[in-house]
Amino acid sequence: MRVQWEGRTLDLKTVWMEPPTVRMIDQRHLPHELRIFVAESYRDVATAIREMVVRGAPAIGAAAAYGIAQAVLQGVEPEEAAEALRDTRPTGHDLFYAIEYMLREVGRGEDALKAAEAYARLDEERCRMIGQHGERLVKAGSRILTHCNAGALACVDIGTVTAPLRLAHAQGRKFLVYVDETRPRLQGARLTAWELAQEGIDHVVIADNAAGLLMQRGQIDFVLVGADRIAANGDVANKIGTYEKAVVAKENGIPFYVAAPTSTIDFALRSGKDIPIETRPEDEVLVIAGERIGPEGTRALNPAFDVTPAKYVTAFITERGIVRPRDLGTLKGPGRGGSPRPPRSSSRSASPAKGKPTKPHRPASSRRTRPDRKPTSRQRRR
Ligand code: MRU
Repeated sequence: MRVQWEGRTLDLKTVWMEPPTVRMIDQRHLPHELRIFVAESYRDVATAIREMVVRGAPAIGAAAAYGIAQAVLQGVEPEEAAEALRDTRPTGHDLFYAIEYMLREVGRGEDALKAAEAYARLDEERCRMIGQHGERLVKAGSRILTHCNAGALACVDIGTVTAPLRLAHAQGRKFLVYVDETRPRLQGARLTAWELAQEGIDHVVIADNAAGLLMQRGQIDFVLVGADRIAANGDVANKIGTYEKAVVAKENGIPFYVAAPTSTIDFALRSGKDIPIETRPEDEVLVIAGERIGPEGTRALNPAFDVTPAKYVTAFITERGIVRPRDLGTLKGPGRGGSPRPPRSSSRSASPAKGKPTKPHRPASSRRTRPDRKPTSRQRRR
């Protein structure tokens, strides 16, 4: 992502590796400060994920891939690092997907650093393809509601939700993005607004509870959100508050799109009921900008994600095309795409299916890929 900072133009990824360190934009300080967090070991990477230095499902996956590469370079058993990284945030699927990929690649003797770099490149490529498939939905004059941050900061670069927005903007279309502030951690007001401002995309931040009014008044043309985990039946875990937006969108006849790479789909889970929901510290709700807002002794409950049933989702925008929830299964399995194995780290690396974007609402045609490995028993338990 291109970022203007203190009069300079910087070209940054959300997470990258400068051996022996893993580096990432420290998202806790945006939009006021651009700081880089330096992880000296896989333990630092695990802390960074847990404390949301890096956040957003695909970015967490890439950070974990680099963390395992770092462990290998430092002579640590990859399973030791994997164990610590799995134990950071339970909801997003990309974390577990990336860890399994790295263990598989290292296990078969691939170079760990090259494998992690290949993983990060594939994440970017998937976002690029999501942009190509999704940009046609963003018409001149569109008014789009988004929740949380599913931008470049939530991935290695480009973003999922922001990929179609960036492309439509680059093509000269003018549109407006309503950005939910996204309590309690304000990823919308702090991160999405920052990214859109950097790009010069017209946007306005709204309080989370303003979205219903705007939808009722006909001021939103469609909702576009990311995902942390998608179950096989199309139920979607995403940032807390997403479910409410989906229900109100349906009530008002407004399309609700989910932009996500296939690495976010967990075909091992039949429905969203099985998705583990992270509960985060009470202070994220009770303390704002260092100041406690509730009386001493008042407790808070802070679930970080909710699950939107598939019936509220108009379609998924994936790197393989735009797919209705009932067709999600077409993205699974050998020869039909879906949750593809990330590329081998050699120069033969596969990249996602290239070529023309598919038509909306149809399962995309795709090249032959090998099926995903079965999840570990630990993953199934989650
Ligand atoms: O708690 P966070 O900030 O990691 O939650 C992030 C989200 O819910 C995003 O919408 C999701 O990961 C999609 S990112 C492309």
